[in-house]
Amino acid sequence: MTVCEYRPGLEGIPAAESSISYVDGQKGILQYRGIRIEELAEKSTFLETAYLLIWGELPSQEELKAFENEIQEQRRIKYRIRDMMKSFPESGHPMDALQASAAALGLFYSLRDLHNPKYIRDSVVRIMATIPTMIAAFQLMRTGNDPVKPKENLDYAGNFLYMLNEKEPDPLAARIFDVCLILHTEHTINASTFSARVTASTLTDPYAVVASAVGTLGGPLHGGANEEVIQMLEEIGTVDNVRPYLEDRLQRKAKIMGFGHRVYKVKDPRAKILQSLAVQLFEKFGYDKYYEIAQEVEKVMAEKVGKKGIYPNVDFYSGLVYRKMGIPTDLFTPVFAIARVAGWLAHWKEQLAENRIFRPTQIYNGLHEVPYTPMGKR
Ligand code: SDX
Repeated sequence: MTVCEYRPGLEGIPAAESSISYVDGQKGILQYRGIRIEELAEKSTFLETAYLLIWGELPSQEELKAFENEIQEQRRIKYRIRDMMKSFPESGHPMDALQASAAALGLFYSLRDLHNPKYIRDSVVRIMATIPTMIAAFQLMRTGNDPVKPKENLDYAGNFLYMLNEKEPDPLAARIFDVCLILHTEHTINASTFSARVTASTLTDPYAVVASAVGTLGGPLHGGANEEVIQMLEEIGTVDNVRPYLEDRLQRKAKIMGFGHRVYKVKDPRAKILQSLAVQLFEKFGYDKYYEIAQEVEKVMAEKVGKKGIYPNVDFYSGLVYRKMGIPTDLFTPVFAIARVAGWLAHWKEQLAENRIFRPTQIYNGLHEVPYTPMGKR
């Protein structure tokens, strides 16, 4: 077997064959099962898009209705998980609470039947239905309140905003949130999806797969960047301070959050759509001064590092949208996870279909035949 060249971070190395999504980083193209993200954002819903990704085709009206109903029926979380979350420290990061709760969900469904399509579907429905409820429950409990039960008459996106803010969301906000979920659902073999596939390849249960992927998504170089972008905009504070701030950080080789991508060398198509969603919200609910600062950041960054292919990625404008919906900053990445769970589950299913456990090799650069040194001689 030939050992191919080692590339740090497996940059440019195919780690799987997949038909779920496709990215052209030079042209800024993203397709889910071949359909352009712009079309899905305009015409689809998150649950329809999730169905497309997981089962490979757009559902019929009946198939979609059945999927929506199954999810709606399973939105409640086990009281033992709610009680477990009550013991989490309020200061804990919601991504850690989500990872613990997703893993705990597996305690209730320990029977693994990975070759049974009904087991696959039941697991997909259960996980997608309960993740939003867990996040909203943690938010309410860490502020000293009882969580609210899901509301039957609200769709997936609207119900999450209701459970989070304890009031029915404006229809425009609910629709825009649903589009945000579509945009964040899937993105080929990014770090958290790679984690999901590696974990899936050992034939463990889907709850462990999701818990593994949640842990990976939380890092600031991946899904955690959206939270850091808002913190950066708040730190910059004014439009006039953008240039000196960026020049200082770039000069220190510090990374600017929400910019750059391993694959996109142009502006992320999702960032373009999120930017337009933010403007729609500002037009209806009032302006956000941080948008002006963000636009100035984008302008100065294009001047400074555009030639290196460093442009806004999905995380740069998403936080401005979420802020307008009353979502706390440290819940931005859990919101990313609500959407990405569908992508991870699609990859879980695809990995199982033609599985081979991941076990890459390494280039050993350590010592050989080293004698043991007794304690007295160290
Ligand atoms: C997501 O993979 C996916 O698909 C992920 C994602 C998805 O949907 O799953 O799209 C979601 O994770 C988006 C990315 C969110 N992360 C951030 O916004 C964090 C900031 N971005 C960087 O950390 C970085 O751009 C990465 C991690 C996203 C990509 O890094 P790479 O491909 O490993 O690039 P690199 O670190 O090797 O940098 C190459 C050069 C370096 O300069 P030189 O040493 O060559 O002079 O580009 C520079 C870097 O310093 N650079 C940046 C930069 N990103 C790269 N310089 C300033 N700010 C940045 N953000």
